[in-house]
Amino acid sequence: MQDRLNKIKIDFSKELDSISEPDNLRDLEVKYLGRKGELTKVLRGLSELSLEEKKTLGKAANLLKTELEEAVLNKRTELEGSTMGEGSLDVTLPVEAFGGAKLNPITSIIYEIEDIMTSMGFYVAEGPELESEYYNFEALNIPQTHPARDMQDTFWLADGNLLRTHTSSVQIRTMLKFGAPLKMICPGKVFRYEAMDASHSHTFYQVEGLMLGEDINIAHMKAIMRELLSRLFAREVEVRLRPGYFPFVEPGMELDFACLLCEGKGCRVCKQTGWVEFMGCGMVHPNVLKAGKIDPGKYQGFAFGFGVDRLAMMRYGITDIRLFYEGDIRFIEQF
Ligand code: FA5
Repeated sequence: MQDRLNKIKIDFSKELDSISEPDNLRDLEVKYLGRKGELTKVLRGLSELSLEEKKTLGKAANLLKTELEEAVLNKRTELEGSTMGEGSLDVTLPVEAFGGAKLNPITSIIYEIEDIMTSMGFYVAEGPELESEYYNFEALNIPQTHPARDMQDTFWLADGNLLRTHTSSVQIRTMLKFGAPLKMICPGKVFRYEAMDASHSHTFYQVEGLMLGEDINIAHMKAIMRELLSRLFAREVEVRLRPGYFPFVEPGMELDFACLLCEGKGCRVCKQTGWVEFMGCGMVHPNVLKAGKIDPGKYQGFAFGFGVDRLAMMRYGITDIRLFYEGDIRFIEQF
């Protein structure tokens, strides 16, 4: 029996050395280790031996089995490595062409807005998306009982904090950090507890703007917005103001721009008015300046906030806001 084991070992090694194809290795494995293989037969025959022989030969046969299995495994790795390049990954296989990464149109439009506004001397501020009630409402002249809290449906957290409903929450943080005079914008994500449809999302982007100084008025804001929109749309864009209400500005206003599709004549997009509603704005309320530790007797200025999603929709002719958030590469690739 021991002689048989020795012979199996020698024959197996010789055959293994001559193998250069994975298929032949599989055949060799079957020949020696398969259900009817040479070594398997020896192992099965052990039951007919005496107890003493079983002990010594059984051990030797099992050791040989492990040895052959390892040799097959090593040979397989060697053969696969040589036919497939690095490990088991064939780095030479042709791959499907990839068009390269693209930015979401919201991201690119924010970058453009940042470029235009910084060229006019505005600082780009940031603030937390998870915000305290104080910065989102209280400090913006919206106390707890104020009906204006219902203007923006809020995602509240169990601990009393919230997901910011607008980027106006960054106004106070920036005033406290830099004081006046101040020129800042803050682009960022905001959240509202609203149902989604083609023009509403529970998560969307806004850009806040704030300019404070000793002699800043709404005419400055109008000129800056005309410049921003004209550069964004690469043509002259007319703007107009009408009264609006936001507790953190006084007087409060809404700014519209002349519809770019019908040149102000009236169409479906502008609801036949010739004007597209663009943003809320106004002169910063003295209570807000005080919360920002700025003297309202000395400094004044304007604030504005607009939605980036709807701006991007108008610029690229996108009819459903949800497309921005679906992560569909076919959508992104178009911009
Ligand atoms: C505000 O959020 C004020 N903070 C803006 C402001 C800032 C006023 C500073 C005065 C001074 P409003 O709720 O209207 O205002 O939102 C501003 C813009 O966000 C809207 O004009 C619209 O473009 C966009 N927006 C509002 N809700 C949604 C929504 N659910 N989905 C997409 N865009 C939205």
